[in-house]
Amino acid sequence: MLVTLEGIDGSGKTTLCKQLQSEFPDAVFTREPTNSWYGDAVRKSISADNADSLAELFLYTADHADHLASVIEPALEEGKLVISDRYADSRYAYQAATLSDQLSSPLEYIKTIHEPFTRVPDLTIYLDLPPEVAVQRSDQANKFEQIQFLQSVYDNYQQVINKDPDRFAVIDATQSPESVLSESINAIESFS
Ligand code: TYD
Repeated sequence: MLVTLEGIDGSGKTTLCKQLQSEFPDAVFTREPTNSWYGDAVRKSISADNADSLAELFLYTADHADHLASVIEPALEEGKLVISDRYADSRYAYQAATLSDQLSSPLEYIKTIHEPFTRVPDLTIYLDLPPEVAVQRSDQANKFEQIQFLQSVYDNYQQVINKDPDRFAVIDATQSPESVLSESINAIESFS
């Protein structure tokens, strides 16, 4: 079974992921961007000033292709529970935001390049947090710009969820970390 964790920056995804590792010790935990050299290329692009957004989409997507082939598919074939911290939905939400000025239907375009080869998760845990709260939790320098960007990412996540609601467990991330964890465990256990 493939479970993915999604949410905007500051939604508490990293904390949840660590806690799930102790709850599901036999699961394979993985992430995007990955730790492969494709993932290194992605991180290089994230930290570059003026990286090209379209080039960045393809770097993330190349990393995803390698991630599927070298980690996800082999683990699923062995019957493992695989939990990925970010996955294709991060592209649908984030790159559709970074490419909104450049492409007319960025979300549809990004889905189109994934659909022929990706594997759709069995369950996606979405940590739902309003962008204003996410930015308050972080120490971002330009909070106004950050809220505008995260609002666009947030809206894209909503669109993806509305198209495929059965795949998602939407969890209110304003709750305590303990409640977020127990709701996530329930979602995974009731699925498997
Ligand atoms: P991540 O390492 O998950 O950051 P964090 O642990 O702080 O949530 O992701 C790094 C950044 O990359 C984050 O801002 C989200 C972004 N990202 C995309 O824009 N597209 C993608 O496909 C992925 C996987 C991440």
